[in-house]
Amino acid sequence: MNFLKLFEKPDLVAAHRGDRSRQPENTLSALRSSIGKCDFIEIDVQLSRDRMPVIMHDETLGRTSNAKERFRDRKPWHVNDFSFEELQSLDYGSWFNGRSEPLLTLQQALAFAIEENQYLNIEIKDMSAFADDAEVVQTVITAIEKYGAESLVLLSSFYHPYLQLSKTISPVIPTAALLEHKKKDLLNYLRSLNVNACHLDDVITDRHTVHALRASGFAVNVYTVNDPVRQKELFAWGVNGVFTDNL
Ligand code: G3P
Ligand code: CA
Repeated sequence: MNFLKLFEKPDLVAAHRGDRSRQPENTLSALRSSIGKCDFIEIDVQLSRDRMPVIMHDETLGRTSNAKERFRDRKPWHVNDFSFEELQSLDYGSWFNGRSEPLLTLQQALAFAIEENQYLNIEIKDMSAFADDAEVVQTVITAIEKYGAESLVLLSSFYHPYLQLSKTISPVIPTAALLEHKKKDLLNYLRSLNVNACHLDDVITDRHTVHALRASGFAVNVYTVNDPVRQKELFAWGVNGVFTDNL
C-alpha cells in the first residue's frame, strides 16, 4: 500500500505536526504520541544553513525553542541562518511543557515512519529565498530514498514549483498542492502541477470545490479542522482527510 491506497479509505485523520496538543509539535515525542490515533502524521521540513533537513514549522526559532536565550545576538533567529550543529544544541520542548526535547531531523522522522509503518505527510516549507529549488527537493527526496520510505510519504508544499520538481526527480512519490487562497481554473492548475492531491485551507473549502476536485480524481485534505461537527460535514462532502490538532 502507498499513500494513494490510503486515500481509498474514508474519513482520514491527520495529526497536524504530530500530537501537538499533548507533546511539543514536530518532535519525536509528538510523533510517538500520534501512533494509533490517526491515519497519517503531518510534519514540516526546512533546511539548516548547511542544508540538513530538520523538522520545524516556523521560519524562526523563537516560539518553539530556547534559541533566544542561547543565541541572544542572532535575531530574528531564522532557521536557515543556523547550522545543523547549532540547531542540535537547542531545546524544542521546554517552551511547551518544561521538558527538554531534542531536534527532530527528517532522517529520524523517516526512520520512525519505517519502524512504525506510519504514513507521513512531509510539508516542504518555502525556502526559495534561501536555497535553490532543485537542491531543496533533491535533499528531501534523497533522504526518503535512503530509508526506502517512498511508499509511506506524501510530499506537499505551498510553494508549488517544488511539487513539479518532485515529480521529475521521483514520479512514484505522491504530491499535494497546499492552497490558502481560492484559485481560478483550479482543476487545470492542479493538472499542470501533476499533483495527486489538494490540501485546502478550511476557510476556502466549499462543497462545490470538493465535489469538482474529487470528480476529477484529486484527493482532498483540509487543514486545520479541530471542530468535530465541521469534520463530519467535510467528510459528508467527500473530503478524504482532515488535519487536526486534537487527536
Ligand atoms: O499541511 C497542512 C498545514 O500544516 C498547512 O499549514 O501553517 O500549519 O503548515 P501550516
Ligand atoms: Ca504544515
